Formats: sequence, structure tokens, C-alpha cells
Amino acid sequence: MAVTPATSPHTSSAKTWPGYRGHWLRGCLREIQNAPLELYPAIRRQCGDFACARALPGFPFYVLFHPDAVEHVLQKNAKNYRKTDTLLKPMRLLVGNGLFTSEGDFWLRQRRLMQPAFNRQHLVGLTERMSAATEIMLREWQTKEAGRTLDIAEEMTRLTLRIASTTLFSTDVSGDSSDIGQAFRATFEYVSRRMSARLMLPLWVPTPGNRRFRRAKRLLDDVVLKIIEGRRKSGAGMGDLLDLLLAAQDEESGGGMTDQQLKDEVLTLLTAGHETAAAALSWSWHLLSQHPEVQNALFDEARGRLQGRLPTPEDVAHLPLARAVFEEAMRLYPPAWGLPRETIGPDEIAGHPLPAKAMVILVQWVTHRHPDFWDEPERFKPERFLAENAAGRAKFAYFPFGGGPRVCIGNTFALTEGTLVLAAVAQHYRVEPEPGHAVIPDPTFTLRPKNGVVVRVSRR
Ligand code: HEM
Repeated sequence: MAVTPATSPHTSSAKTWPGYRGHWLRGCLREIQNAPLELYPAIRRQCGDFACARALPGFPFYVLFHPDAVEHVLQKNAKNYRKTDTLLKPMRLLVGNGLFTSEGDFWLRQRRLMQPAFNRQHLVGLTERMSAATEIMLREWQTKEAGRTLDIAEEMTRLTLRIASTTLFSTDVSGDSSDIGQAFRATFEYVSRRMSARLMLPLWVPTPGNRRFRRAKRLLDDVVLKIIEGRRKSGAGMGDLLDLLLAAQDEESGGGMTDQQLKDEVLTLLTAGHETAAAALSWSWHLLSQHPEVQNALFDEARGRLQGRLPTPEDVAHLPLARAVFEEAMRLYPPAWGLPRETIGPDEIAGHPLPAKAMVILVQWVTHRHPDFWDEPERFKPERFLAENAAGRAKFAYFPFGGGPRVCIGNTFALTEGTLVLAAVAQHYRVEPEPGHAVIPDPTFTLRPKNGVVVRVSRR
């Protein structure tokens, strides 16, 4: 494939985009659908930090790998960019018009409303619930035989679902986790298929896939309704996010949140709050199982600080290696591995002009391994995230939580959760790879390990 300038309505002084044509007839659509983790690094190798590729002939999209370009799109000129309909429409089938999928003034009002539940002060109170949820998992592990094999990705999914539901809504929905877990998986698979396929029959057509999605979505809606109705009936304030949402609904009756909006927000937070964190923890354990020397250092840190007890809010700041492992795992395996955007009006980035309504993609999977910004980019080196080594790094060379106004509202929540879970488990258990089990990144809804992460865990 040759590097050729893509045609675009540029002025003569503007830089032309290095063009990545892909297949002469069908463009890169097949690679976008089937092998994006190979496609985007190939685009960077051929074209550099800025490229124009074609999904299909006549459907160009722009790929930006340089941290300054990422900062421009997400932060400096964020007003000129929106999430694309290819992302929003399928996502809305699952979470309606919640914080992740809403736009404009409505989004801003909801964001302001929920922000206090995610500030540092409030999070301190949630740390104990995170520890309590982790303790339940550790107790279950203790009752099983030593040196056993388990899929730690499944364990982390159940744990993060318990953490999200108990911290945000004071209800543990993980008890029915096999049903709920399967329903989430079915909806994620469906949504990600809709994101990359141009031609799919509308949801109302009773195809087997559509019916499966509707069944799974009904189950998730029921879970959410039960959470809301339970709280309304009990009338008891729990000081959590659900209280905040319900109070806003009462205050603003008439113009405020409808029942549907409330349901959308709860399902959004339950979805966004557990799936990505589960992926990040699963990758952390995979990497730790491959690097026993790092795992031993983590054990020393955790045992030294915790002495066998569960982490308290005060401990989190004293577990720097646990946090660095979590951050490094998200560098190598970012749960959100690419962010699509669309320009609203024309723009220019580093001299490269962009027309209005242009599709732009930022790719954590590539920028997080960019050799100009990371030393030994392919190596697992958590120490690069320790305070003494992190200074001077380009701000947007690392953006697992996005950035700018649409930055993940749960970023501090997730960093606290990741640090706490890794330390709480590592002080008691050694995790080793299961011979013969291949761990394969699957870039669908989030970047998950395809067949889980099967490991052997033994008590220390
Ligand atoms: C390791 C864990 C997590 C990762 C990697 C992650 C990643 C992200 C990213 C990249 C975005 C921005 C998407 C975009 O700009 O297109 C985002 C948004 C969001 N995240 Fe997270 N997230 C994590 C955990 C959480 C948690 C724990 C919660 C809630 C408890 C949460 C709730 C949300 C919500 C509601 C949004 C939409 C925010 C808005 O648009 O205002 N996330 N997340």
C-alpha cells in the first residue's frame, strides 16, 4: 500500500494529509471491523502522526496519533468536536440518553448534577465499600482449594459490578451476576457490531440477533428499575449518587429529570462504571502474572502497608506501586482503545486542514505505545508512573480516560478502585499464568481479553 496524498478541499498553503488508501476497492473497512489493533499501528508506520484513510471509497477519516493533536481535539478546541453518530446511535440503544451519550446543554446540566458524587471528598467515603466488596471476593477464594485455576477476568467483572452497584446505588446486583454479566456481554457485542457494520436491520426487525439484544436489555432495565423502586419505597437517604439523582428529579419536577432519564443515568453509570474497570484489572493481573518480579515488589508494598488488613481511605496514597501497575496496564491495554469524533465546523491541526463533519479518530492503543514519547514502549514498566519518573511527559501521550470537558467522570473513582483491589489481593495471593492459555486482546466495546485471563492463584 502506497502513501499517497488524499484528496481534500485544502487551501494551497495547507499541508496535505498523508493518505493511507488500504485496499484499492474496498478501503480499510474490513480491517476496521476485524483487525483494528493491526490497522492503526500500520497507518502510523506508513504515514506518521497524521493520516487520512478511507473506510470505503468516498468515506475518508482522519487519524491523529500525536499527543498535541489529541489535546487539540479533546481539550483546546473541544467545542468544535462531537462524538460521532456511529458511536452514539448504537450506544443509545443500550443506555438511552445518559451522561455518556447526551450532548449540549442537557449533558452539561447532568454532568454538573453528578460531579459532586465523584469529587475526592465524596470518594473517601466510598473507599470502604470498595474494600468490603473486595473482601467478599477474597472470602470466596479462601474457601476454594489452594493453587486453583480461575478466570480472573470473570472474577474482576463480578467484583467491579459489585463495587459500582454498592458504591453508587447502595445495592449489590452482583448476586445475580451470571445473568447480569451475560446480559451485559450480549448487549456489548451487539452494540459493537452495530458500531462497525454499516448495514444492519433496524432493532424492530425480529432477527435472532435483535431479539437476543432486546431480551438482554429488558433484563438490565429490570435490574435498574428494581434499584430505583427499592429506594423510592424505602425512602431512606443513603448519601449516594442515586439520592442525588432522585433529589434532582423532585426539585425540578415539571422541567426536571423524567423517570426515563433517571433510568438512563443509572444504567449508564452501572455500565461505564464496571466494564472498563474490569478490563483494566484483568490486564493488570495478566501482566503481573507474566512479571513475578513486579508482583513480588507489589506484595512487599501491600503487605508492608496493610499488614494483612483491608485498605482504608488513608492507605490509597501510600500504595504507589499498586497505582503505577494499574496505570501501566491501561497504557499497554487501554480499555477505551480509540475515541471517534466528528468536526462541527472546519478546523486545522498542525497545519493539516479538516473539513466540517469530518470523522476523526484518536487511538490510545497507538499513542500509548508511541516511540517518541515512551521509552521501551512495548515493555511493562510500572515504575514509569511513579511520581519521580512521570515529570516532563507530554500531557496527552497518555489518555486512558479521554480528556477535556468529556473526560471520564469516574477517573479518580477508577484509580482508587484499581489501586485498592490490586493491593488487597496481592498481599494474600500469588497469581501465575496457566500454561497453554493464550490471552488475546479483543477490541470490541472495550479492549477485553478475548477468552478471559486464566491463571493459577495460590495463597502467600
Ligand atoms: C479504568 C476504568 C475506566 C476507563 C478506562 C474509562 C474510560 C472513559 C473514557 C475514555 C471516557 C471518555 C469517552 C469519550 O470521550 O468519548 C469515559 C467517559 C465516562 N466514564 Fe469512564 N472509564 C473508567 C471508569 C469509569 C467509572 C468507574 C465510571 C463511573 C463510576 C465511569 C463513568 C463514565 C461516564 C459517565 C462517562 C461519560 C462522561 C461524560 O461524557 O460526561 N467511568 N470513560
